[in-house]
Amino acid sequence: MAAATALAGTGWAAARVLLPAETTGELLTSAVPLPRPFTVPLPIPPAARPVGPGRYELVQRAARVEIIPGTTTEVWGFDGRFPGPTLELRSGTATTVRVRNELSVPTSTHLHGGVTPDDSDGYPTDLVVAEGRGYRPPPGMHGHHDPSLWSFHSGAKDYVYPVRQRAATLWYHDHRMDFTAPQVWRGLAGFALVRDDEDDALPLPKGERDIPVLICDRAFEEDGSFRYPSLDPSLLVRPGVADAYAEGVQGDVILVNGAPWPVLDVATARYRLRLLNGSNARRYRLELTGGARFVQIGSDQGLLAEPVTHSSITIVPGERFDVVVDFSEYAPGTELTMVNTLGEGLTRAVMRFRVTSRVRDDSRVPRRLSDLPSPDRSAAVTTRVFDFRRTRQASGAGWTINGLPYRPGIPLAEPRLGTAEVWRFTSDFHHPVHLHLAHFQVLSRGMRGPEAADAGLKDTVDVRPYEVVDVLVRFDGFRGRYMLHCHNLEHEDMAMMADFRIV
Ligand code: C2O
Ligand code: CU
Ligand code: CU
Repeated sequence: MAAATALAGTGWAAARVLLPAETTGELLTSAVPLPRPFTVPLPIPPAARPVGPGRYELVQRAARVEIIPGTTTEVWGFDGRFPGPTLELRSGTATTVRVRNELSVPTSTHLHGGVTPDDSDGYPTDLVVAEGRGYRPPPGMHGHHDPSLWSFHSGAKDYVYPVRQRAATLWYHDHRMDFTAPQVWRGLAGFALVRDDEDDALPLPKGERDIPVLICDRAFEEDGSFRYPSLDPSLLVRPGVADAYAEGVQGDVILVNGAPWPVLDVATARYRLRLLNGSNARRYRLELTGGARFVQIGSDQGLLAEPVTHSSITIVPGERFDVVVDFSEYAPGTELTMVNTLGEGLTRAVMRFRVTSRVRDDSRVPRRLSDLPSPDRSAAVTTRVFDFRRTRQASGAGWTINGLPYRPGIPLAEPRLGTAEVWRFTSDFHHPVHLHLAHFQVLSRGMRGPEAADAGLKDTVDVRPYEVVDVLVRFDGFRGRYMLHCHNLEHEDMAMMADFRIV
């Protein structure tokens, strides 16, 4: 990418043709000495403990944690953790999560993949501000001129999740206007797992062999703190990153569940890995050494109709792949490495599995997983086009949808509740396109049908340079104000977001 950027003056298209990059973003390197890969054990985030039936409370606060061995990093985490505690949700059981903010910045918490009423969806101007702290959006922020767009909760807000949706691997993260990227980078993200009877009844790996795997990249300063090219490190006044990073920030340290290149001891058994790309901008193409394969059983929104076997998986920011890996063929002592073939040097490594014990395993992957009809284009009542593109703005680099920077409160589309539409996404760079509330199935990529990795019900889709991706979206759940945006968080903060209203 460095070379592509050097050519930027000659025109983006030319640079792209000469150097077809597989990821959009710039590498930010660390100043701290990096640890040897595969020395730190894989942490498993603890489950959040309910404070009452269907009630949780999470506190956003700063904490010092050891990420790079021998040094400490201040994280901004839910309960001071990165990743935050895992929310265990049950399909059909309404759950309220009180989020208390004790940070120096406002926050908005979004349940990514949740079918959530709009007032609990983490709208970017619906902010929680620490008790006793004032906050007014400064000029320069999107929507600052219109006070009616903003709401402020002092201390805490109750987010209400009806959880009327199927089992799936969701995640929650910050969604504050113009500052989502640096706030997620500092740690404001965690898993939310929805379980249901259908998924529970399958003979898939369970318990300690059902593992959430949040992959993200970061960079570190010499003193161990997170390095990030914010224009305003206080994150209070001026949004945005240094120009060189406008395409997205990619760190040189790969973290899994918050640990650098960790290692997990496994038995000779099947494991269910819930892969989540929680990076700001980095795309990964994951592969296992030793010929091991991923048997995909679910995507963003739960079980596939039937398993799909992949030797590599491309996962973009915000996306999830629910996979089973079978270690039963490997003798104790064998090491298998999960690599990212789009990375270079250390960013090629992700984590390692070390087979350490022999066990009997009666889990399996059934040939039929769920009832998920293939999408029917003729079910759509209309087609809408959303073009994701970099355009020159008066304010400098701008990421836009249909030529427009984000305008909170002004919907780009008003689909009707209970209907389906074809949404067509077109692009210049890599844009992982994400919809709040509504789930979709991929219909086509240009003249071709969906790829193997497009299977299932999704909320985030990999849209590659100069691609045309059609998805069939169903608008179910709630009327109200929702968002679609690019999940490259630097693009999102730099206005590649739009409202849609379900009417
Ligand atoms: Cu995961 Cu609107 O985001
Ligand atoms: Cu979302
Ligand atoms: Cu983008």
